[in-house]
Amino acid sequence: MIFLKTDKELELLKESNDLLGRTLAEMAKLIVPGVTTAKLDKIAEEYIRDNGGIPSCKGYQGFPATLCTSVNEQIVHGIPSEKTILKEGDIITIDTCVLKNGFHGDSAYTFPVGQVDPQTLNLLKTTKDCLYLGIQQAVHGKRLGDISFAIQNNAEKAGYQVVREFVGHGIGRDMHEEPEVPNYGRRGNGVVLKTGMVLAIEPMILSGRRNVIVENDGWTARSADRKPAAHYELSIAVQQGKPLILSTFDYIKDVLGDRFI
Ligand code: MF3
Ligand code: CO
Repeated sequence: MIFLKTDKELELLKESNDLLGRTLAEMAKLIVPGVTTAKLDKIAEEYIRDNGGIPSCKGYQGFPATLCTSVNEQIVHGIPSEKTILKEGDIITIDTCVLKNGFHGDSAYTFPVGQVDPQTLNLLKTTKDCLYLGIQQAVHGKRLGDISFAIQNNAEKAGYQVVREFVGHGIGRDMHEEPEVPNYGRRGNGVVLKTGMVLAIEPMILSGRRNVIVENDGWTARSADRKPAAHYELSIAVQQGKPLILSTFDYIKDVLGDRFI
């Protein structure tokens, strides 16, 4: 069942997502060559707890950390480790969830580490565009497939592939609620979008072939051909006319300045 959120609930969702946006900005300050993903995870957990949130990925179906840290060919659900040391030219996706006031926020951002080659930057830019094109469709009266199509269309136009094994989702009192929000689909298909639906929209885009492998740790998903992957995620509320964006990359923008893409 799809839960429609009241204005009061949207305010609470905004608070959870705001903390998430600020947490990602803290990560933006730390992402430099030489930092380990374990250090990012530790600092993120402290920051979330210090600000009245619960890191809700930790323990979720046994996931061991606050952050999912996915480097280069890794797509989602990378596990932070002392052994994973970022280096110049890498990309890293930080994906995490926060529970505050009984509501979950969910957001992800792929960061360049130092100078990154132009092809990879293009992958990041295209993936972020996919996210905003998807979000644009999230208005009352449209259909879920309109979001999915907008994402797939933009990715494939650029010569990329969308990941099909993982999808966006409704979000609220549970981290994953109905409906699923695939990053591929057809215009005019799927459920009709209604004011008060809250969706975590999260294109995961591959620069190489479409095949995905899950590593032996049971979590880390990567491209089979080891070509880079990108992932951006924001939570939004469907409204009349234009969507309400609940999570934000604005704090990241403040940190990155002209390095923000
Ligand atoms: N943020 C992820 C999502 O978009 C959830 C992480 S699942 C976890 O659905 F188990 F890794 F925490
Ligand atoms: Co999500």
